[in-house]
Amino acid sequence: MKYLKIIGKNKISGEVIISGAKNAALPLIACTILAKNEISIGNLPDVVDINTFLKLIDKLGGTFQKNEGRVTINPSTINKTTATYDIVKTMRASILVLGPILARFGYCEVSLPGGCAIGQRPVDLHLKALEAMGAKIVINHGYIEASAPDGLKGAKIVFDKVTVGGTENTIMAAALANGETTIINAAKEPEIVQLCEVLANSGVKIEGIGSSKLIIQGSNKELLEIKDFDVIPDRIEAGTYMCAAAITNEKLKISKVIPLHLESIISKLEEMNFQVLQDEDSVTILPTDEIKPVNIVTTEYPGFPTDMQAQFMALATQANGVSTIDERLFENRFMHVSELLRLGADIHVNGNTATINGKANTLKGSDVMATDLRASSALVLAALVAQGETNIHRIYHLDRGYEDLEGKLTKIGAEVKRFTE
Ligand code: EPU
Repeated sequence: MKYLKIIGKNKISGEVIISGAKNAALPLIACTILAKNEISIGNLPDVVDINTFLKLIDKLGGTFQKNEGRVTINPSTINKTTATYDIVKTMRASILVLGPILARFGYCEVSLPGGCAIGQRPVDLHLKALEAMGAKIVINHGYIEASAPDGLKGAKIVFDKVTVGGTENTIMAAALANGETTIINAAKEPEIVQLCEVLANSGVKIEGIGSSKLIIQGSNKELLEIKDFDVIPDRIEAGTYMCAAAITNEKLKISKVIPLHLESIISKLEEMNFQVLQDEDSVTILPTDEIKPVNIVTTEYPGFPTDMQAQFMALATQANGVSTIDERLFENRFMHVSELLRLGADIHVNGNTATINGKANTLKGSDVMATDLRASSALVLAALVAQGETNIHRIYHLDRGYEDLEGKLTKIGAEVKRFTE
């Protein structure tokens, strides 16, 4: 197994170029299932989850060619309707083929995703929405079996809870359904907006893009002609490098971003007394004379993202005072706390709230274990300011979502190396 060795306290400076967003690219690759033509997708992040999703497209009978940040997918040959356990168990986002495969073929089986390190993560809302559109769904031998032999029908769907994946599955299903689908309490994340825009550019009529009420006119099973597009920048990768600047208290430019998508992150850094300069497609974090504590509540976009909570917890260990983080989206997303404690952090968890007693220069290098993608990036950040050497084990989590992490960190002056144990 691979691990990362990071020597802390190196000065960092310069510029980090942000890659395409993993969480935008996954549903966008899924939406190619709705098309009859070949589609070329640019700014594709080179991370494990994307390769796993492309493998799933291949298993469904589609073909693709990938080189240098671009993939061309030919979905016209897709002829299978099952996402099998071996793929779903490595990547929950496989559930995103359910809506498009069901809409196109009238039948789909997806291995039921189990719980994961950050919580139970049920998919009941995805299934309820598809049932409202006329699908019959049963769970059989660990598989979701969905059928709609006469095609899906437009429906009014009110989500009891905001769900990113549930909204994406419903949008894709609605694009090929018969008639109009209204989604109320839809997620509004930039990744959802891009999915809607790609479909709208391909002729699907969608009202309310970027709002919590979407109205989608379905094509009644006529396959789409999807135009080529580039994936939006990864706001969570950008936020992670913004935290790298903040935790080391150095100046760093983060380029190829959409600053609008980073508003809640910028605002929390400002509360912590950092100045953040914004350009059209970059942000620059400036060092501060005192890192102030912060109170964070995770919520849906445009609020503070749960995917940035662990990184801010690492940062809060360097603040001068007591910070709090309230995790409202997932019930078990504090697995990084025990690992940060191994590095010497002073953190207490009570229910969904973590209290971080910050003090600069308290972290000391140690062996730690990555538990999920974002928890791992928090350990990397902490290691950048810890005294001495930190070895981060189980880094396959990091490889799922951060493109060339060592390369990007090394380029800005960090001392990071990958080893096999
Ligand atoms: N939920 C339900 N029922 C459902 C669906 C969701 O109860 O049918 C609950 C979840 O258990 C959770 C909440 O609703 O408590 C929100 O879940 P959501 O469906 O929005 O999350 P997701 O689509 O599974 C995506 C990202 C996650 C990110 C969340 C929240 C992708 C591939 N994943 O997950 O990203 O944390 O939205 O913003 O887009 C990551 O990148 O590290 C990551 C975990």
